[in-house]
Amino acid sequence: MGTDAEWDARYDAAPDGMFSGNVNGTLAAETAGLTPGRALDVGCGEGADAIWLARHGWDVTGLDVSAVAVERGAVAARAADVDVRWIAADFATAGLDGFDLVTAHYPALEHTPDRAVLHALLAAVAPGGTLLYVGHAPLDREFSLAHGFDPDDYVLPKDVRAFLPEDWTVEVHEERPRPGGAPHGSSFTHDEVLRARRG
Ligand SMILES: C[S@@+](CC[C@H](N)C(=O)[O-])C[C@H]1O[C@@H](n2cnc3c(N)ncnc32)[C@H](O)[C@@H]1O
Repeated sequence: MGTDAEWDARYDAAPDGMFSGNVNGTLAAETAGLTPGRALDVGCGEGADAIWLARHGWDVTGLDVSAVAVERGAVAARAADVDVRWIAADFATAGLDGFDLVTAHYPALEHTPDRAVLHALLAAVAPGGTLLYVGHAPLDREFSLAHGFDPDDYVLPKDVRAFLPEDWTVEVHEERPRPGGAPHGSSFTHDEVLRARRG
């Protein structure tokens, strides 16, 4: 489900765009009280969140394992006349650090025995910075299995919370309705939102 070639094929199968191009409402809500600085959007897809952050004063890096998605983000950023740094790479091995905000919405990051994604998430956030990690909720396991993936294979907000060291503060961890409702044709009505601050 998760290699670069597999994700590229998914994006190629949706040549007019896989997503709406609109910012995720939870990102807009959860960053309202933050002072813009360096931001990293993990699993940025076609770049709508990264572009929104850049418009709101953040110095943004958008990272996705799919080069097709990242190229779409770059095209959209040029059209919007904003600067975003784009990286096509596997987040788990990208070796990033020093961000005031690390945001990931529905990022489809897979567990590995070495817990590489969890280590990479913690390392990416600068001291005093914020991690915003948002997934779908509640996850309907049978629906997921019928659509070819097992939610247990993926790093979910609850997994990130359980991995946070003691010097992190959990500011938000809850399920709530997704702003704007479920995207057309999907059953994703709610988000699981984790926002935590590194000490
Ligand atoms: C469901 S999409 C969400 C895209 C975007 N965040 C949004 O809200 O529209 C999941 C994204 O995660 C990316 N992804 C999956 N595994 C990844 C990995 N190991 N490193 C970076 N990105 C990954 C996929 O290519 C895909 O674009």
